[in-house]
Amino acid sequence: MLDKILIISILLVLPIVAQTQEVAERQLDNNSISIYDNDLLSADFHSGRREELRKRMKSNSVAIFLAAPVRNRSNDVNFEYHQNPNFYYFTGLNEPHAMIMIFKEPTEVNGRFIKDVVFMQEKDPETEIWDGKRYGTSGATMILGLDMALENKVFHEMELDLDQFDEIYVQNIHDDIRDVPFKNGDLFDLKAKLDVKLNKVKSKQKNGQLSLWCAELREIKTDEELNLLKKAITITCEAQREIMRALNPSMTEYQAEAVVEYIFKANGAEYPGFPSILGSGENSCILHYTASRRPMNKNDLLVCDIGAEYHGYTADVTRTLPANGKYSYEQETIYKVVLEAQQAGIDVCKEGKNFWDPNIAATTVLSQRMKELGIIKNSSELRRYFMHGTSHYLGLDVHDVGRYGKLEPGQVITVEPGIYIPQGSPCDQKWWNIGVRIEDDILITNGKPVNLSGCVPREVEDIETLMLEKSRFND
Ligand code: GLY
Ligand code: MN
Repeated sequence: MLDKILIISILLVLPIVAQTQEVAERQLDNNSISIYDNDLLSADFHSGRREELRKRMKSNSVAIFLAAPVRNRSNDVNFEYHQNPNFYYFTGLNEPHAMIMIFKEPTEVNGRFIKDVVFMQEKDPETEIWDGKRYGTSGATMILGLDMALENKVFHEMELDLDQFDEIYVQNIHDDIRDVPFKNGDLFDLKAKLDVKLNKVKSKQKNGQLSLWCAELREIKTDEELNLLKKAITITCEAQREIMRALNPSMTEYQAEAVVEYIFKANGAEYPGFPSILGSGENSCILHYTASRRPMNKNDLLVCDIGAEYHGYTADVTRTLPANGKYSYEQETIYKVVLEAQQAGIDVCKEGKNFWDPNIAATTVLSQRMKELGIIKNSSELRRYFMHGTSHYLGLDVHDVGRYGKLEPGQVITVEPGIYIPQGSPCDQKWWNIGVRIEDDILITNGKPVNLSGCVPREVEDIETLMLEKSRFND
């Protein structure tokens, strides 16, 4: 166990370096943060991403990102914190109340020429007793490899005039940043002070370019990112296989969700990357059903659309299962139509194709087959039963950022056609309450598409066979 635990005690062994930091150092001792994972993105990754961003920035410019706000759940309980993916991508810092400035050229800050500066929460032993250890400014420079880290409270008095830059890029900031009472130097204060500085240089702001550059960078995964994404996908496939084994019609949707999320946590995923979708019977036709309250029945289909998040990277894999282990004739018929459409979509996931080509390929199959089954009369009616696109990028966000242009090696996209026929639809009643979605995570290469979630069965016979296996949850 111990060999898996990487205790970061650099702060203890590098006292001389620590003394060179800008902020008056505390006695650095066992108050320093412990990091238990040894496969996080490296400091080199984050500094490499900052360098890539700099290449795109105009000369004499600065890019600014804020950390995600802490979101209140109710009264004095907050939602579990989740970092702004862009901020995480460029820093590796998972703490709230922080901001990074990335300079195109080394820029003088507090008497030093630096390429980036992070403003962040100071270490605070009393709060850390409740919320856990913080990096502190020394941790940020030494562990995360940031050029300079300063405490938030010094931001308003620092000698950095934004007017010295020709262009300023600020990531669009959501407006739900709330003031934390009795707390100086929170994100609210940081943004208020930033706004004062920005208001003086409004004409220099070119914010739209920044989101384009983030999309351009984030849509192509580096090897380090791919390793984490593959891990998230592998965990998710394991959860899909386990729910196939465990599922039976006496379960509720929340019990199916419990099986899935147990596997996520047991394999080290921090959380689901999005609320798990376990929709049975009529709920199989609700695209983003998350309530999970329904008891299942023996003739139900269960749409299981799930994704573990591992060190920031989110999988997204969907299978549609018969609650009793055997698809009915009608269920199997629709299932095979969706599967054929999905395969047509996957087949065109090739370098140089357009982002929307898998959608076109899958939709063509769905349209044709739905007409043959007499469920629709013409292609324009397909939208009633297939009302979403087949693909999105996958990465730090489940619906990751990207430019929706050509497919390129290093991109990972989903291919997820579906057919949803709710009760009351204008077709034979035998099709009602059949909702089917099949989703896999496809890596674009300079050769064939690679199905990263191919380790979980998709074919009817393979799913029914796996469903016969015993689950560790059966008892
Ligand atoms: N996994 C849900 C979605 O892609 O919308
Ligand atoms: Mn998806």
